[in-house]
Amino acid sequence: MAKKSAVKFVCQACGYESPKWLGRCPNCGAWNQMEEEREATKAVKQQQRSNFTGHVPQAVVIEDIKTENIPRVKTEMEEVNHVLGGGIVPGSLILIGGDPGIGKSTLLLQISAQINNAGHRVLYISGEESAGQIKMRAERLGVKGTDFYIYPETDIDAIRETIEKIKPDFVIVDSIQTMIQPENNSTAGSVSQVRECTAEFMRIAKTNDIAIFIVGHVTKEGAIAGPRMLEHMVDTVLYFEGDRHHSFRILRAVKNRFGSTDEIGVFEMIEGGLREVKNPSEMFLEERLAGASGSAVVASLEGTRPILAEIQCLITPTAFGNARRTASGLDYNRVALIMAVLEKRAGLLLQNQDAYFKSTGGVKLDEPAIDLAIAVSIASSYWDVETSASECFIGEIGLTGEIRRVNRVEQRVNEAKKLGFTKVYLPKNNMAGWKHPEDIQIIPVTTIQETLHKVFPNKN
Ligand code: TYD
Ligand code: MG
Repeated sequence: MAKKSAVKFVCQACGYESPKWLGRCPNCGAWNQMEEEREATKAVKQQQRSNFTGHVPQAVVIEDIKTENIPRVKTEMEEVNHVLGGGIVPGSLILIGGDPGIGKSTLLLQISAQINNAGHRVLYISGEESAGQIKMRAERLGVKGTDFYIYPETDIDAIRETIEKIKPDFVIVDSIQTMIQPENNSTAGSVSQVRECTAEFMRIAKTNDIAIFIVGHVTKEGAIAGPRMLEHMVDTVLYFEGDRHHSFRILRAVKNRFGSTDEIGVFEMIEGGLREVKNPSEMFLEERLAGASGSAVVASLEGTRPILAEIQCLITPTAFGNARRTASGLDYNRVALIMAVLEKRAGLLLQNQDAYFKSTGGVKLDEPAIDLAIAVSIASSYWDVETSASECFIGEIGLTGEIRRVNRVEQRVNEAKKLGFTKVYLPKNNMAGWKHPEDIQIIPVTTIQETLHKVFPNKN
């Protein structure tokens, strides 16, 4: 049999491999993304074989496996601990993705300083900024520490040696797209470089029991640049999101081998760095205008945590041509579907109306339970009748106009109560099986027609 060629062409957008060069990737359709790469080198092969621990694994009887409570290192920021599932697990590899300038380096510098204060040795590897630049930022953030090393390097072999010499407890890699494995001929940031360097960091983390944070850049489409496979390799994937024009930042766990996913932590970017926001609901509702039409509040669930947010809608007659629809912070398709249901089931004539949607504070809401609040905000703007400032709406809407059950309704209602809401509309099917808190009126609803009738009694 002929020897398999060591050269292959890899799509830099999706990681598809081909033995010959192609103009267009047959997998993802991207043009001009195929790049020549050499066969996986040492690091990847070894990683695949050794299960990251340096030993060839053996099959073990399940009863003989000892479980141990994973000790976690806590940062001073409760929001960070919460997102990580209780703290940082030693030996774990954590990927943190986000748009440029969103504050990833700032967050990691603050986390490092805090773990350093707690007596752990930290090594901050930067391929993007010089030691001087990092020092300047550290000064701005008021970070100082004696056992805190800054290391501007991109060569993974040199990094491995330094880690073995310094023996840190925590390592920050900023960013994975700047790291290179010199044996691999492709450029920094290419799929194979990113993959091999990640595999190498995984091995370093597992063999030395060091927690490693890796910064990954995000592409236009929102995936961590280059390969999605990076997300499969690491233990935890966090996204740092937010609107650069707003000061709010949300740290979201999209994968976590040591905790539940979809947990979020909320921060605010201020002069002295990131500050945690202890009560996000309060902040999202802060600027709410009482008595304005087109606004409705929902108790949305982010991970295990209920968050109150305002949904705004503005309906205006279309001047000419096609009706315009935009949605920021909400899923456009969800909004279109609810408009269609309202048109068909509740008789609202929306086809010749422009509709603009916004979730306030730049928070992204994507959960079925927000449907009812979207529908109410549409009706409120359409009729130009305000909703009461003390009402909150929870429920999913089906295509026949029925209000469907949502999960964890008790937590949502309690959060609404905590913030002083006095009335909450929720699906009738959600009424049983939990303790209804006092001082908050609960209004069960079964259809969208019924809900609109109850919320706007003078309108239909
Ligand atoms: P940075 O952490 O460099 O972003 P990333 O690493 O994700 O690219 O954050 C840069 C932004 O944060 C920059 O626009 C300035 C702002 N910032 C503050 O507002 N306050 C601060 O204390 C710091 C350090 C940065
Ligand atoms: Mg940075």
